[in-house]
Amino acid sequence: MEELVRFGVSITPLLLEKFDQLIKDKGYPSRSEALRDLIRDHLVEQEWETGDTEVVGTVTLIYDHHSSNLLQLLNDIQHDYHDLIISTLHVHLDHHRCMEVLVLKGSAIAARQIASRLISMKGVKHGKLTITSTGKGLG
Ligand code: NI
Repeated sequence: MEELVRFGVSITPLLLEKFDQLIKDKGYPSRSEALRDLIRDHLVEQEWETGDTEVVGTVTLIYDHHSSNLLQLLNDIQHDYHDLIISTLHVHLDHHRCMEVLVLKGSAIAARQIASRLISMKGVKHGKLTITSTGKGLG
């Protein structure tokens, strides 16, 4: 059997409660097995996203617009990728939270770069990059 390595994870009680509920719903025997599956899923996703072909996609961000400097920083990053972003949608979800959807068209590498930069920012509660094909070559 392959050697296993243990590591600690810091997480809010609410997020852990939701994770445990997910584990229960999906029937995982343990948190470790569920986490291993999540990691494998991300690795596979990354594998098929490699390559610099032209793609279209979206980045969806949920953030608190009261976080200091966040709006300015998000805006600065988007201007760095003005050639890539072909449309944006902003929805004020409630008093604090905003949802922003960026529509991208360009290289998969650039799409992943901007998504990583935006999603990793402090104050961004959740973010997701969805890459799809432009349809060229699919018949
Ligand atoms: Ni808003």
